[in-house]
Amino acid sequence: MEIWLSCAVSSLPPISSDLFHSYQTNYLTHFQELMDNKLLQAQVGLWNLAFGYLKTMSFKCALDLGIPDAIYNNDQPMTLSQLHSVLSIPPSKKSHLYRLMRLLTHIGFFIEKSAGACSDPVYDLTAQSRLVIQKNESANILPYVRCTLDNTWLKSSLYIGDWFMQDSKKNPFELENGCTLWEIASREPAVNKMINDGMVGSSCLFNDHIVRYGDNIFKGIESLVDVGGGKGAMAEVIAKNFPHVRCTVLDLPHVVCDNPNDGIVKFVSGDMFKYVPPANAVLLKWILHDWSNEDCIRILRRCKDAIPSREAGGKVIILEAVVGLTSTMTSDESQLLFDMLMLMVTEGEERNENDWKYLFTEAGFSSYKIICTIGFSSIIEVYP
Ligand SMILES: C[S@@+](CC[C@H](N)C(=O)[O-])C[C@H]1O[C@@H](n2cnc3c(N)ncnc32)[C@H](O)[C@@H]1O
Repeated sequence: MEIWLSCAVSSLPPISSDLFHSYQTNYLTHFQELMDNKLLQAQVGLWNLAFGYLKTMSFKCALDLGIPDAIYNNDQPMTLSQLHSVLSIPPSKKSHLYRLMRLLTHIGFFIEKSAGACSDPVYDLTAQSRLVIQKNESANILPYVRCTLDNTWLKSSLYIGDWFMQDSKKNPFELENGCTLWEIASREPAVNKMINDGMVGSSCLFNDHIVRYGDNIFKGIESLVDVGGGKGAMAEVIAKNFPHVRCTVLDLPHVVCDNPNDGIVKFVSGDMFKYVPPANAVLLKWILHDWSNEDCIRILRRCKDAIPSREAGGKVIILEAVVGLTSTMTSDESQLLFDMLMLMVTEGEERNENDWKYLFTEAGFSSYKIICTIGFSSIIEVYP
């Protein structure tokens, strides 16, 4: 600080000693204020980082209490008093409900409308909270959000630091639970259902886009296998909108066992590392980000074995993030957060275009094309 001051002072015109002292004091005060402001800003940033989990937990609390559904069912914005009276919470919690709603409106999950003359705040839904309404059949991602907020993997986030310090091939989830996510899902029906329902929820926003781009994607395709297709939500949308495409879903036995073979989609149980049923096209939605490069190459090779040559229309359709490539409506942060989720519960990762190119080349494919980007995921076509 002294050096800075003497440099600054040396460039000043000659001045009296009184004036010099007054300059010096002003400089020091100003400098100190700047430093204080910077430090305070840094501290505020740190508070927000350290307590960021309370945003997530307050959001979870709103879901646990059913607040988005309560406002939706009211057909119009709700006052705090109305909200309090329909939720199953005791009268003593009313002022605390206000505090919860204050944070949730601050972070954009709800909106607070002018209360007019009355001092009772009025709350309404935002685009975000509408996405988790139970009755929203066209776009309800509540099951997926519930799944990601479940203790099954929430706990693993506490062990990421420990995991970094251990030279183990197991991911933080395995270190904490002693087995992989897929092993738990195969043993525990409740976890299996939660993941499968969550995946159906995760697809709903993509379904519209698959339909929008489908004329080009499914042109000339007569059969398609959705590998790791879960409950078949996306395959069903494809089969209904593009009836010339016969759709099959391949997944593990515990996932497909109770799926209805109702003629719209055929369910086949199997292991994608061993065999993929033949088809014109293979769909992989949110599969490869669960696996290491070596495993992805093995899966992609099985997919390549299942499809005809490029000239005969063979292709693999991948729906995944391409890190660094997002549509304007979302931020790169979602991709990076998903990547940390993958680090925590799988062997996989979110990949950038070069990473994808490497996998396609190693698996023996000749070229690929990124068809479009939807939110933070892209549709990539890969050709043999
Ligand atoms: C992240 S989920 C994606 C589900 C679906 N594609 C979607 O996006 O809605 C991964 C899926 O891969 C399935 N899976 C995991 N290992 C598999 C294997 N060896 N063979 C076939 N499917 C597998 C899981 O059961 C699960 O349904």
